[in-house]
Order: sequence, then C-alpha cells, then structure tokens
Amino acid sequence: MCRPTHFAVTYKINPWMDPTAPYDTTLAISQWESLVSAYEKLGHQLEFIDPLPGLPDMVFAANGGTVIDGKMYTAQFRHAERADEAPAYRDWAERAGFEVHEAKQVNEGEGDILVVGDVVLAGTGFRTSHAAHLEAQELFGRPVISLQLVDPRFYHLDTAIAVLSGSRGETPANIAYLPEAFSPGSQAVLRQLFPNAVIANIADAEVLGLNAVSDGHNVVLAVQATNLIEQLTKAGYNPVPVDVSELRLAGGGPKCCTLELRS
Ligand code: ARG
Repeated sequence: MCRPTHFAVTYKINPWMDPTAPYDTTLAISQWESLVSAYEKLGHQLEFIDPLPGLPDMVFAANGGTVIDGKMYTAQFRHAERADEAPAYRDWAERAGFEVHEAKQVNEGEGDILVVGDVVLAGTGFRTSHAAHLEAQELFGRPVISLQLVDPRFYHLDTAIAVLSGSRGETPANIAYLPEAFSPGSQAVLRQLFPNAVIANIADAEVLGLNAVSDGHNVVLAVQATNLIEQLTKAGYNPVPVDVSELRLAGGGPKCCTLELRS
C-alpha cells in the first residue's frame, strides 16, 4: 500500500477524474488510514511503499504490478502521467525479495489481472494490452482468460469484477461482477466459469463497489455499495464497509489501493 501523501487530481486519464474540481488530500489520507486499519483488524500483513512527489495516483498500488508465486510481473502504464510508478514498485519488489520480471507489454498490474482460483482473469479494452495477457500466462504458467471491457467508467477489470473467493487459493472460487461492463462474448465466458457469481447492479459499480478485497469471507468494499453489501450478506460473506470516497475522485476504491503479495 502507498499512503496518498501526494494525492491530487491534476490530469484526466479516466472519466472519474476532473482536474477542475476540488479534492481534499487530508481527507484522502484519513480515509486511506481507515482502510489500513480495516485490514489490520482482519489480520492482514501489510507492507508500505514510500509515496513519491509528482505521482498523485501512486496510492493505487494495485496497478504497480502483479505478484504470484513470488514472481512480480512489472507494470507498464498506458499513460505517461503514471509511467514513473512502475520502476518504484519494481524496485520495492526487488528489495522485498520477489523475483522481478520486466513486462514488455502495456499492463496495469492487478488493476486488470485478477487471480481467481486456478485461473487468472485479465481485462483489456482501455489499459492493459491483449499481448500482456499472453506474457502473463507464459510467466505464471496459469491459464489467463481474456475479458473485453466496454464501458470507459469501468476501465480496469477490478472496477467491474470483485474476486470474492480464490484470490489466494480459497475454494470454491467466486466473483461478483457487473455484466454490462463486458462484451457479450466475455459475459458468456463469465456465466460459464462462475455460474454462482453475485451479480452487481450499475448503482454498485458507480460507487466502485466492485473494487473490493476479499480473504474468501470478509469483503472490504465501499460503504456506498448498499445493494452489493446486501447481496454479499445473503450469499454468506461478511461485508466490511469502508469509506474512501475521496479517492473515487481519481477513479479508485479499496482494491485499487491494494496490491496483493502472493509469495
Ligand atoms: N487515476 C488512476 C488511473 O486512472 C486510478 C487507478 C485505479 N486503480 C485501479 N486498480 N482500478 O489510472
């Protein structure tokens, strides 16, 4: 995780961002601290990377790479504004003892690459290139399923799918998702792979409710996602609501702030 010390909305690389609108860095920091304490209460082990000035989106650690089986597949950002985050996360991973593999293809880490049980779901359409899916499959030796994102508001896979179970091997693997964020063919793939998925509605997705972090039972998600919270409870999960609404001004939620380290 990366403290939003330098959080700001000074450029626009997704529809959520409005550089002319006000934002409150102090509030962003205190909301981020509440996310940290929610994780601590759940017993997660946390690591922190130093925030760098001039990188206002660095709080979104999920985009810093993908870490599976002790290997880090580095990020290569689509937009120049975020390019310098990639070496910062790569250097952190190297110092932490992960095996670093430099990406040749454009990809935004766990924003678009999600581990769900035995497979990896990978998004494309806005940020991560299709070629990166193949690169990740070769590196990790796990089947990578390509999914086509179609709505610019849900530009990263982790804004359209929440991994409810299976991110770290819990079984049975399951997800929550917004069907209309995907092309018809990708919707059919998701129906086939996850017949028991929790189906979110547009109101949930519009508060980035699907940008959630789950340990297989406790699901940390936006407090504003009231329908999804109800659906998750009915499905036997324990929703843990947090408020990171200030970070939503940049198009991010709890999951965006979190890069899972799978050793
Ligand atoms: N402003 C950032 C961007 O557009 C937000 C990134 C959100 N991260 C995520 N994993 N969805 O790149």
